[in-house]
Amino acid sequence: MNDLLSLKKAFLVEINAVSDITGLQQLRAKYTGRKGLITAQLKALSAVPPEERPLFGKAVNDLKVYVDQIMYRKDQSLKDAEQQKRLQAEKIDITLPGKPSLSGRFHPLNRVLQEIKDIFVSMGFGIEEGPEVELDYYNFEALNIPRHHPARDMQDTFYVSDDVVLRTHTSPVQVRVMEKQRPPLKIIAPGKVYRCDADISHTPMFHQVEGLMVDSGISFSDLKGLLELFVHSFFGKDTPVRFRPSYFPFTEPSAEVDIGCIFCSGKGCRVCKTTGWLEVMGCGMVNPKVFEMSGYEPDAFTGFAFGMGVERLTMLKYAIDDIRLFYENDLRFLRQF
Ligand code: FA5
Ligand code: MG
Repeated sequence: MNDLLSLKKAFLVEINAVSDITGLQQLRAKYTGRKGLITAQLKALSAVPPEERPLFGKAVNDLKVYVDQIMYRKDQSLKDAEQQKRLQAEKIDITLPGKPSLSGRFHPLNRVLQEIKDIFVSMGFGIEEGPEVELDYYNFEALNIPRHHPARDMQDTFYVSDDVVLRTHTSPVQVRVMEKQRPPLKIIAPGKVYRCDADISHTPMFHQVEGLMVDSGISFSDLKGLLELFVHSFFGKDTPVRFRPSYFPFTEPSAEVDIGCIFCSGKGCRVCKTTGWLEVMGCGMVNPKVFEMSGYEPDAFTGFAFGMGVERLTMLKYAIDDIRLFYENDLRFLRQF
């Protein structure tokens, strides 16, 4: 019985010193494990005289229950402490301001480009592309602008070499498409073009969308109807449109499309140079010479083409008065779209 009492005291001293789960496991093995001190007392029961056995047996059992209980509680409090420690370490400070999730948006030019594409795709046009570094042949010669022809001066060209230019318009895509495909043809060709030109309405790089429709029996009234439909979808159905005779070597007859000035409603202002009208694109019936150069029989087909400036359309739609704003990456400007 004295042994049991000193076992109990020793246990209490030791368990007070335990500070982690491993320490507790070692203590459990030492006292109640298979070779533990209390287990040994139970095994020694048979050596106790029979009359003392019940009392001694009960005492050993009570001690075991007591020790188990204390160890159970210690186990709980160690696990609690461990969890608290982890919670502290992983603590999230919900009083800190959140990080804003910055989402990008489309550049105004890309928005307008997408809108232009949507309008033409909804009218059955396909989309084609051509190279920005272009042969002189496609940019000029095949479009009826021979070398040394004064019409070359209409566009200030960046030359890469004698025969290679940065395309000055998207019209060369007309020829490239006609070389590959037979009529009926109904395409638009959006893309970047380059001219040696810079002021508040001109930049050295800008975007155009070319259009081309070829079949047998296409007339100028088809061209007028289609472009009016486009202007009305893009600027609103009450926007006045007019076709003004003009000249392009690759179309005959040629016209420029004007819309009623959106800044002064046609009354005349600084932007429209008091005319009440703003030019939005060039167009015309495909010149038979271009058909010939592209391998089409000029007597079998007619067609029309048009070319619009995307920057110009965007400036008119959103009343932007300086083209350079598109390329300065000023967030105060870009955030408005
Ligand atoms: C042409 O480029 C012809 N290829 C258009 C065409 C196509 C006519 C098919 C007939 C048939 P123009 O040089 O006018 O035409 O340019 C067309 C548009 O591009 C202009 O109306 C203008 O909006 C825009 N543009 C021209 N130069 C610049 C520039 N430096 N910066 C921004 N936009 C420009
Ligand atoms: Mg022009």
